[in-house]
Amino acid sequence: MLNILVVGSGGREHAMSWKIKQSPKVNQLFIAPGNAGTAELGQNIPVGVSDFQGLKKVILEKKIDLVVIGPEVPLVEGLHDFILADEELKQVKVVGPQQEGAQLEGSKDYAKAFMQRHNIPTAKYLTVTAENLPEGLAFLESLKAPFVLKADGLAAGKGVLIIDNLAEAQASLKEMLDGQFGAASSKVVIEEFLSGVELSVFAITDGKDYQILPEAKDYKRIGEGDTGLNTGGMGAISPVPFADATFMKKIEDRIVKPTVEGLQKDGIPYNGFVFFGLINCGGEPYVIEYNVRMGDPETEAVMLRIKSDFVDLLLAAAEGTMSEQKIEIDERAAVTVMLVSGGYPGDYTKGIAMSGFEATENSILFHAGTKFKGSDVVTDGGRVLAVSSYGTDMKSALAQSYANAEKINFEGKYYRKDLGFDL
Ligand code: AMP
Ligand code: GLY
Repeated sequence: MLNILVVGSGGREHAMSWKIKQSPKVNQLFIAPGNAGTAELGQNIPVGVSDFQGLKKVILEKKIDLVVIGPEVPLVEGLHDFILADEELKQVKVVGPQQEGAQLEGSKDYAKAFMQRHNIPTAKYLTVTAENLPEGLAFLESLKAPFVLKADGLAAGKGVLIIDNLAEAQASLKEMLDGQFGAASSKVVIEEFLSGVELSVFAITDGKDYQILPEAKDYKRIGEGDTGLNTGGMGAISPVPFADATFMKKIEDRIVKPTVEGLQKDGIPYNGFVFFGLINCGGEPYVIEYNVRMGDPETEAVMLRIKSDFVDLLLAAAEGTMSEQKIEIDERAAVTVMLVSGGYPGDYTKGIAMSGFEATENSILFHAGTKFKGSDVVTDGGRVLAVSSYGTDMKSALAQSYANAEKINFEGKYYRKDLGFDL
């Protein structure tokens, strides 16, 4: 029996906690800092994801056996390395890569060089700093519009610009290098534009072997028909109809396997999740980005489709026994619809009273940004609540989530009603 600590506070961490809680191997579950939803599954502890000393105290006091790190920030900051290096903590098992492997998400330049080295299909690129700006401007001239500029470092999902006009792209390149995204854009990756439909594929690995989790498609734009500003994600659908066995085999052979083998060849220790942000260009998969964690909101759909004991998979990742695992997948469709605060992804108000939870049925409500105010649940973020449902197909699962999305009330509530429109 294990005491498990999940680090994070979003819908992803609520969904993972929900799945972890189904395992008979769990003794006590803690979530730091968690949200109003995770409080129903375990004990929330008010310690932030970057507060390593605070987390150390929790691990010792609560006799934690397994730490599952949800978001990218503590991974890139080296939480796993911190635990390994500490005399009192080094027996604790951790799911999530160390700092070096986390560079696959923490630095676009690092990720591109990795893909190039291991012949993993991705867009042509050039990395530019103040030193080789003229080369960068010339590279842009050699490409066809639109132009893709990416801040090298973490920029909370905002560091990618797609620009139609060459002169504007060249001006933006200079602005980025001049600190538009702070230190994150002191290096910029220029990429060839790839055209196609995107999907998210996930693997859990111990650095040698891996299991592929159900794939998903997420909807990033705020507006229907994929219009308007980018958000953290407005909903997700799994399975993805165009990701048939042939396409998934290409992904495994050309991308997943070479990635895990590449990590090994490069001597990079890695355990945890690899999130492949992919694009389907005329039937051929290309990598748009790596993330070193699960996707959000994809997790709020993907967890519903994992039949196996999730704790077994987490332990196998931490202990290096993934070759003994087999993952069982639920054949049903699963979707999640994200309810967001009015004004999001721009300015919005927090602390708005929520109601209607008891009226919902046959959906699972994962809290993304909520908290308790006394005994009431109030909004506490842009993305507020993920309404997840099963269905025999995507359409029936969506109908179920939409019926329940109606019943949840909070002032300013918004959600996209067209998920799946492109599939
Ligand atoms: P990233 O943070 O790298 O995932 O980029 C954010 C979004 O920009 C992606 O989800 C894509 O929609 C888009 N994007 C990134 N790179 C490219 C590319 N090379 N071609 C076309 N679209 C891209
Ligand atoms: N859903 C995309 C992400 O988690 O980055």
